[in-house]
Amino acid sequence: MNYADSPGIMMTNRRLVVGITGASGVILGIRLLELARQLDIETHLVLSPSARLTMQQETDWKPEQVQGLASYHHPHRDIGASIASGSYITFGMVVIPCSIKTLSAIANSYANDLITRAADVTLKEGRKLLLVVRETPLHRGHLRLLTLAAEAGAIIFPPVPAFYTRPETMDEMITHIAARVLARLGLENEHYQKWPGLE
Ligand SMILES: Cc1cc2nc3c(=O)[nH]c(=O)nc-3n(C[C@H](O)[C@H](O)[C@H](O)COP(=O)(O)O)c2cc1C
Repeated sequence: MNYADSPGIMMTNRRLVVGITGASGVILGIRLLELARQLDIETHLVLSPSARLTMQQETDWKPEQVQGLASYHHPHRDIGASIASGSYITFGMVVIPCSIKTLSAIANSYANDLITRAADVTLKEGRKLLLVVRETPLHRGHLRLLTLAAEAGAIIFPPVPAFYTRPETMDEMITHIAARVLARLGLENEHYQKWPGLE
């Protein structure tokens, strides 16, 4: 584990908030939880109701199994949970995948559920917030929302696959994206294959 990317992070603070919303690609959030577990990161998971739908549609995972990958899980409606307060120290949050609806709420500080409240808290406390926004194509309103969120301090991290690693399976691509997200949060890990430079 390497926290060099985030000088403010103490080894004692290994808490990461993970929101999974109803955009396509729920497997990315699941893989991130699996990798974070390997890295001994304390994860606080919130699943949106729509994420439960996409999970059923796109995977064989059950919500309870996914919640079991996290250190803690919180109900989506529980705006009184620990992670809804800035006094609860975390080193950041990731919404993976992030729907346009949740992007819109975060960009506008419309914090009416635990994912959007925890994201707003992450921004106001100056902590890292990664939004793995998944939608295509994007209209101008989407682009405005992305700009608004970036201006508030969010890191916009679309789940764009890398081809320089010559992935042979979907599984490799999924792992690479999840590992790259963790690396951007300051959590170096062996699954993220960096560009070695042209021979
Ligand atoms: C199978 C499925 C796939 C979806 N894919 C996307 C998507 O890729 N991006 C997106 O913004 N919304 C997508 N949606 C729509 C969202 O689930 C919907 O807007 C929902 O209200 C998002 O709520 P949440 O952000 O609270 O999870 C999808 C819905 C379903 C059922």
